[in-house]
This record gives sequence, C-alpha cells and structure tokens, in this order.
Amino acid sequence: MTVFELLLIAVVLLVIMYTFVMSRLPKNLPPGPTPIPVVGNLLDFHGSRQMYKDFLKYREKYGNVVRLVLGPFQNVILVFGHKAIHKALIEQGKYFKFRPTKLYVNEKVFHSKGIAFGNGEIHQKLRRFTLLTLKDFGVGKKSLEERIQDEACILADELESYGGQPRDIRKILQRAVANIIAGIIYGSRLDYGDPDFLRLIQNIDTIFAIQSGNLPENVLPFLAYLPNSKGRKILNAYDDMSRYAKRRIKEHRETFDPNNIRDFVDLYLKAEEHEDEEVVNEENMFRVIVDLFNAGTDTTATTLVWSILYLMNNPDVQDKCQKEITESPLVSRIQYKRIHSLKVTLSTRSQPLFSTSILSLLILIFGKCQKSSTQRDS
Ligand code: HEM
Repeated sequence: MTVFELLLIAVVLLVIMYTFVMSRLPKNLPPGPTPIPVVGNLLDFHGSRQMYKDFLKYREKYGNVVRLVLGPFQNVILVFGHKAIHKALIEQGKYFKFRPTKLYVNEKVFHSKGIAFGNGEIHQKLRRFTLLTLKDFGVGKKSLEERIQDEACILADELESYGGQPRDIRKILQRAVANIIAGIIYGSRLDYGDPDFLRLIQNIDTIFAIQSGNLPENVLPFLAYLPNSKGRKILNAYDDMSRYAKRRIKEHRETFDPNNIRDFVDLYLKAEEHEDEEVVNEENMFRVIVDLFNAGTDTTATTLVWSILYLMNNPDVQDKCQKEITESPLVSRIQYKRIHSLKVTLSTRSQPLFSTSILSLLILIFGKCQKSSTQRDS
C-alpha cells in the first residue's frame, strides 16, 4: 500500500469518526468550539496552566453557557456569571447535583463512593451519617473548639520561631489545618515533622495542584499509563492516603473500647454494630476519611493564606481586628459561642471568600434530566 493510500484511509476514518461524534451530540446543547475526532476540544487547552483564561475566551465568543466535548464523547457545560450559575445550581438544583461517574481518574479513585464524589441512596445515607457524627463532637476527649485553639497556639509558636524572616506560610497553615482534621478523625494531632504527616500533606498538595476533574486521562484512560502521567500521580497519591487511613483504622480496631470513644474512627467502629452495613463499612470509612482530609485541608489553608494577604494589604483593617481581639473582654481564648461580639473581625473573615476562588475546577457536577434513585442529597 502506498503512503498516499494510507493517508486517504486515515482521512476517511477521521471523517467517519467526526460524523459519528457530531451525530451523537444532542441537538439542543449550547454553542461551543467545534470538536475534533477522538480528542474533542482537549487540544484547545492542552498544556494550559491557567485553564480559566481559555474558558474566559470561550465565554467572550459563545456567551455565558458554553459546551465543550472532552475526548470522544464527554460533554461538559461551562456556566459563567452569577445569574446563569444561580439558575443552574439553585433554580434547577435538583437536576445538577450529581457527581460525574464516567471520568476515568475520578472513577478509579472514588468508585462513586465516599461523600465528595458519591451518588445514590447509599451516598445520601453516608453523608447524613457523617454529618451527624461530625456534629457529635462532644464525645472524645476534646471538643472541636479546643482542638482548634490548641493548634492555633502551636501554629503561633511556630510562626514566632521564624523570627520575622520571610517564609512561605502556606505549608505550615496546611499542616495546622490537617492536624485539626487528624485530631477529629484519629483522636490526636501529629508532629509537624512526622514523616507520615508530611507525606499526607504532600499527597493532598499533589491532588490539588493537578486537579483531577479536567485531566485528559479521564476521557482517554490509556494516557494514565504513560510515564509522568498526571492522572497516575493522582492515583498514586490517593493510594498512599488510603493505605495510611487503613493502617490507622486497623490500629483503632485493635484498641477499640465501646465505652471510651476517642474520635471519629471510634464513632464509626461503634456504628458498625447497629447501622446499615451497606453504609457503615470499612471501605466507606477510609473513603470518608480521605474525603475529609482532601476537602478540608487545602480549602481552609488557602482561605487562611488569602485572609493573611488581605490583612497585610490592609493594615488599617488588621489594626482594627487586632484591637478588637486584644481588647475583648473574652478570656485569652476566644469562645465560639461569644464570637459574635467581634464585629470587625467577623466581617473581615468572609472577605477572601468574596474576592477569590478557593476551589476551582476540582468538583465537577453532573446534570441529569430526571429524578432518579441516584440522586444526591440536597
Ligand atoms: C474555607 C474552607 C472551605 C471551602 C471554601 C470549602 C468549599 C467547598 C465546596 C465549594 C464544596 C463543593 C460543594 C458542592 O459541590 O456542592 C465543598 C464540599 C465539601 N467540603 Fe468543603 N470547603 C471548606 C472547608 C471544608 C472542611 C474544613 C471540611 C471538612 C473537614 C470540608 C468538607 C467537605 C466535604 C466532605 C464536601 C463534599 C460534600 C458533598 O459533596 O456532599 N470542607 N467544600
């Protein structure tokens, strides 16, 4: 066969695939860039480190609701602006509250289980159970408030030990936040230099730095087997986190005493005795633990980083907050139930959430056109 004939066959195959892809696109989708066979629109932002900038260009061209095709068949709808987002997520919320189930990396990591990426009746029960369990933090040796206050003191000592020298404080904030979560889940904090703890933070960092939601590996799974694949890095990070969680659960199981509930893991182990086995089981337990570390650490640390930046850029606000806190009649430890008296501090606290995006591109939402048994809880 000549080169010309081979090329001709390749072109014909591409045209057939293209026609096939186009014919499979629902006719009522919003406008968007034209997809090409196999990769869809992936090449449009391949290698882009600031994908939101590419997305904003689409917005300029196509409007507030834009359709992309990722890989051969995966439609993704981008929704821009408060009005359109409100319409989709609030007014039409019951149709847009699912997590995608067909993205390879997500599916391989979560198996549609746990709370952050689950769907369905079991997910609803698990989420409700976890929320109730977390609210129950009168149990155990310390309340959540005490844990946060203890960690804040250790964090302050650590910051003071830098002697006013410039430092990237993001890492230390991540450790402080992850430690509070570790205290809730495992009953005790970890040393900032503990190698297991550092690996946990490193894994969370990897997961958030790469962000699985928009990886090409999700729609072209073979890419996850290439050297240096980002999808593979995420899978490895989750595996490592899961191994650590399983090890800690095993240690808890060996020392479990139903009359001395120490933490979230113990509460979970106790619930195994009477709760629905499909909801409360070891697999769901380690997935919920991994979810809580992932969902809580980077988000809260990023919020703190932005808060500190805001205060640095607005020294007058910083002075007012400091004055309010130091002159407050509250004892040396601020109590949450009395925090409403710190008016300037409270309003400043929400500022970074209005002025920056804390959690971008990570949590994708899956729309369904009808109610079904796979619905997420609202
Ligand atoms: C300022 C800090 C935080 C921000 C900005 C934040 C933001 C978010 C956002 C945007 C979502 C997705 C909501 C959705 O898709 O419906 C979410 C979900 C979630 N967050 Fe947070 N979060 C923060 C702190 C935390 C903390 C400290 C924890 C727990 C330790 C946590 C646990 C979760 C969980 C488990 C989910 C999944 C809930 C579900 O899908 O039903 N988050 N968070």
